[in-house]
Amino acid sequence: MKRLRLLLLLLSVFICRIKWAPVSGSGSELIQLTRELLVSAREPEFSDWLKSVRRRIHENPELAFEEHDTSQLIRSELESLGIKYQWPVAETGIVGSIGAGVQPWFALRADMDALPIQELVEWEHKSKNPGKMHACGHDAHVTMLLGAAKLLQQRSTQLKGTVKLVFQPGEEGRAGAFHMLKEGALDEIQAIFGLHIAPELPTGAIGSRPGPILAGSGRFLATIRGKGGHAANPHKTKDPVLAASSAIVSLQHIVSRETDPLEARVVSIGFVEGGRAENVIPETVRFGGTCRSMSSEGLLDLMQRIKEVIEKQAAVHGCNGTVDFMKDKLMPYPATVNDEALYKHAKKVGEHLLGESNFHLLSMSMAAEDFSFYSQKMPASFFMIGTKNESLKPGGQLHSPYLVLDEEVLPIGAALHAAVAISYLDGHPV
Ligand SMILES: *[C@@H]1O[C@H](CO)[C@@H](O)[C@H](O)[C@H]1NC(C)=O
Ligand SMILES: *[C@@H]1O[C@H](CO)[C@@H](O)[C@H](O)[C@H]1NC(C)=O
Repeated sequence: MKRLRLLLLLLSVFICRIKWAPVSGSGSELIQLTRELLVSAREPEFSDWLKSVRRRIHENPELAFEEHDTSQLIRSELESLGIKYQWPVAETGIVGSIGAGVQPWFALRADMDALPIQELVEWEHKSKNPGKMHACGHDAHVTMLLGAAKLLQQRSTQLKGTVKLVFQPGEEGRAGAFHMLKEGALDEIQAIFGLHIAPELPTGAIGSRPGPILAGSGRFLATIRGKGGHAANPHKTKDPVLAASSAIVSLQHIVSRETDPLEARVVSIGFVEGGRAENVIPETVRFGGTCRSMSSEGLLDLMQRIKEVIEKQAAVHGCNGTVDFMKDKLMPYPATVNDEALYKHAKKVGEHLLGESNFHLLSMSMAAEDFSFYSQKMPASFFMIGTKNESLKPGGQLHSPYLVLDEEVLPIGAALHAAVAISYLDGHPV
């Protein structure tokens, strides 16, 4: 049995090897390709177009699955570039196609939705939609992908395969990637690459890591139902405040006592609500939180234990506890895992484009991304791209109302996307 397993493992490694070997072309070809793409994207007319696209999207941010104007803007840009597309996918999503349609198909991905945050940066292109802002850089993600579309379309007859442009809705908590996959829009795609802006990295730098890079993440809502009454007579009540308190303390033992200390997991409670008066024991207490793990199995494990701990701690105090993971509304995200070969490929392309010293090996982060759904289905690689520029206003972090990004990132991201796709197809045996 063991031998058979070993044989199967060796065989599958062998099959993976003959399927695709990263970047076959010589280093100098790749240097030339990346240089040409970056020079094109930085031409004044090209980069002014990129800025205008990004600013139009920035002024009109739309929340998850409401990206109608953004989707319309993308489609009209694709049309003026002469690029065919499939739409609607998952309501507002678009999949563009460049090349003759032949295999292999390589995908580049951008997310379109904004956040429910009021922008506090005062500038000419400030968000015009109260309470909504592109504070996670998705305006730049869409623009960089449209920039790549233009670069790729200029070379479409030389492509040794097809590039698919995936513009997806609802990355922020709404699992847009899951819905794109569910509709079959990515069924025949062999591999996918995604970029995310990084305000802590300087413009002109990129970073990533092989294997797990972002956490799997879930959210939960707990309700503890007891029996309310006068706080002077606790023996006549079933106190949900005490039950919730015990449950919250016990939840902290899942990570500290049950998890391998060398494995990263998080359980955090973000709110507790229940009761209105100092002298009344309430009927119910509600609380909610998030759980995260660097592996998808770890996440499932956490979710199961969270449910057990809350239900059982409630029972200890004579109360009823229920836990809702809101799987329909806020589907848990699996961990984002970078495929080793595709990671190496994109790293090499990035180093040729920007110089080796501008590649940063990043640490894992407990933040989450729905790019993870793609990484479960096919070789996927997710890279961060720097937007920090000391000569601009202090930039704020992702999800900050003060986020400012250096628009010089737009041609760099466009060239990186295009170079990763072209050289992936070049390295693919036809
Ligand atoms: C808990 O649920 C059981 C079964 O539904 C019910 O009989 C009991 O009264 C409930 N207890 C509280 C404190 O709500
Ligand atoms: C930083 O911004 C300034 C002003 O816009 C620009 O001239 C410079 O090229 C930017 N730096 C980088 C590294 O892009």
